[in-house]
Amino acid sequence: MSTCDIGLIGLAVMGENLVLNMESRGFRVAVFNRTTSVVEAFEAGRGQGKNFVFAKTLADFVAALKRPRRAQIMVKAGAPVDAVIEQLIPLLEPGDVIIDGGNSLWTDTQRREKALKEKGIHFFGVGVSGGEEGALKGPSIMPGGSAEGWKSLAPIYTKIAAVAEGEPCCRYMGPDGAGHYVKMAHNGIEYGDMQLICESYAILKAALNPSADEFHRIFGDWNKGELDSFLIEITTNIFAKKDPETGLPIVDLILDKAGQKGTGKWTVGHASEMGVPLSVIAGAVEARILSSLKDERVSASTVLKGPSPAPYSGDRVKLIEAVRDALYASKIISYAQGMVQLGKASELYNWHLNFEDIASIWRGGCIIRARFLNHITEAYKKNPALKNLVLDPFFAEILQRTQANWRTAVQTAIEYGVAVPGFSAALSYFDSYRSARLPANLLQAQRDYFGAHTYERTDKPAGEFFHTEWFG
Ligand code: 6PG
Repeated sequence: MSTCDIGLIGLAVMGENLVLNMESRGFRVAVFNRTTSVVEAFEAGRGQGKNFVFAKTLADFVAALKRPRRAQIMVKAGAPVDAVIEQLIPLLEPGDVIIDGGNSLWTDTQRREKALKEKGIHFFGVGVSGGEEGALKGPSIMPGGSAEGWKSLAPIYTKIAAVAEGEPCCRYMGPDGAGHYVKMAHNGIEYGDMQLICESYAILKAALNPSADEFHRIFGDWNKGELDSFLIEITTNIFAKKDPETGLPIVDLILDKAGQKGTGKWTVGHASEMGVPLSVIAGAVEARILSSLKDERVSASTVLKGPSPAPYSGDRVKLIEAVRDALYASKIISYAQGMVQLGKASELYNWHLNFEDIASIWRGGCIIRARFLNHITEAYKKNPALKNLVLDPFFAEILQRTQANWRTAVQTAIEYGVAVPGFSAALSYFDSYRSARLPANLLQAQRDYFGAHTYERTDKPAGEFFHTEWFG
């Protein structure tokens, strides 16, 4: 009766693909969905003849699981997860494991983990990245929960994960919310990467107006070099896709109004709360918000005019190279900021995150997979206590080498009136971080002027505070 290695509740596309992946790797899987017809459709469709138990009740689902029972939930983040947990609790025993594989908020995961621990049940918040295809063929998996509970999950998750450089893209991240936090940070970085690619497109479009076919070649070339990544690859493919109805490039017909489900905002909000600059991702989130104000922008465009620069007279190839370099440099800054955020969260929650592991499991399966993650893995392998990725010699050299081109790309954007919140935030971070002195002396004077907030002096020991009588 209890023959299944694992069970999964929630047969939407991600859940369905994950169980097919598990089954294809030799695991027997119990499946359940609140709406029975969904289970029946799976039984008659993609699950037919495969090694599944198609449970029609939650009791049957639990009864089908080997002990310790492993029950994965793949439902919408938020209240639905709590509802499923509540239904599962009376059916489970101490030692069993509940896994939440959705994009849940890490503080929810911490709360759930704590409550279930009191009942002797292990709770895991597992970040799963890679979209539908990744779920089916091998995602990147970021598990967080008790080290003891991980022992019973490791054989399954390491087997269904993507493989990069011969290693599974799945490592234990740390206790309670660590896995979901790392997944959230991954999504934030994903937002940054996507925005930077869009800015590259916007600058080139404004200055050189390449056709979709030319863009297809440009991004295709970039994907052969240092920028080689899943997101550049899909961008290349997007430019080749024609609309069947009109024959036009589909990208030109898509409305410029970005959606978002929330993980980017969570990332930026918490970075800000911890005092970590996350300006590239913040720029990306804001860019999505601004894009969504389509009607307002359309009407503002009739009132507010930008510059009218002369047609681009420089070397086209050089500008394309400059934009590519700006993209690479900005991407490095974005990852550097993201890793600092993870470091700060790790300290805050005592997670002991391992950055080499994190970079290494992002090399395959997930949306941000990219060749350059090998170098990030290397950087943390050499120096696990690296304070900021930009200080690693490999990345510092790239930032030095690309700097002139990076500035050219931003200047071109400004000249053409193209918004580049990601590129310019990255460059400002670079210019601030490498500055021994910033204008914050003046800011401190202002604070002291209107609020007697005091300041430290450059010629006196740190920690000694002064106030000036500004009036009179
Ligand atoms: C992944 C993706 C996945 C999902 C995002 C999209 O890693 O597989 O990040 O989790 O596509 O949630 O997020 P937005 O709808 O916010 O763009």
